[in-house]
Amino acid sequence: MKLFVDTANVDEIRRAADMGVICGVTTNPSLIAKEGRDFAEVIKEIAGIVDGPISAEVIALEADKMVEEAETFIAKMPEYKDNIVIKLPFCEEGLVACRILTEKDIKTNVTLIYSAAQAVLAANAGAAFVSPFVGRLDDVGTDGMALIEEVMDIFEVQGIETEVIAASIRNPIHVTKAARIGCDIATVPFNVIIQMLTHPLTAIGIERFLKDWEGFEKK
Ligand code: G3P
Repeated sequence: MKLFVDTANVDEIRRAADMGVICGVTTNPSLIAKEGRDFAEVIKEIAGIVDGPISAEVIALEADKMVEEAETFIAKMPEYKDNIVIKLPFCEEGLVACRILTEKDIKTNVTLIYSAAQAVLAANAGAAFVSPFVGRLDDVGTDGMALIEEVMDIFEVQGIETEVIAASIRNPIHVTKAARIGCDIATVPFNVIIQMLTHPLTAIGIERFLKDWEGFEKK
């Protein structure tokens, strides 16, 4: 399963890219706002670090404005136009924008997906990616991973090429469960990547190897 990092923090993105574990980045207005930097400037910097799909979300709520926002945004960084993915909120206007952007050969990621029916609509509108939110469904007492499974099953049976991004990932178990189901991609906050690489027995093991080696060297 491919991993994207779900952050707009360039230091985190650089560390994840250096480890070689990610091949894309997703951002959203909340993550961009947290960085307190110019939107285009951040996305441009991210695109310079990761040579893969970088999701940048529109703010507009009307289709023509979404399309305009997307095209203006991409025009600011023509060198990265193949990597920029326009993230659209799931709604009627978002689907219209998805259809128009797809016709213009601009890739989209339809986000805020909370049902398989929504995922089918987004795929039909031409979305390159759909992002069902696992953690936020868990938060309201609904099994988020069951949605990933349902969408994957439908896309497989129907031969739909839209890639599924498990989003709103909160812990390593979400990641491994999504992988086991066969989900295409999980977009993972940087702290979850750190949780994934941390195991107390690994740390103890490294310490023990070094101690034994020191004792051997002294002989
Ligand atoms: O990229 C959007 C999504 O991952 C949000 O996650 O933790 O705010 O539900 P969260």
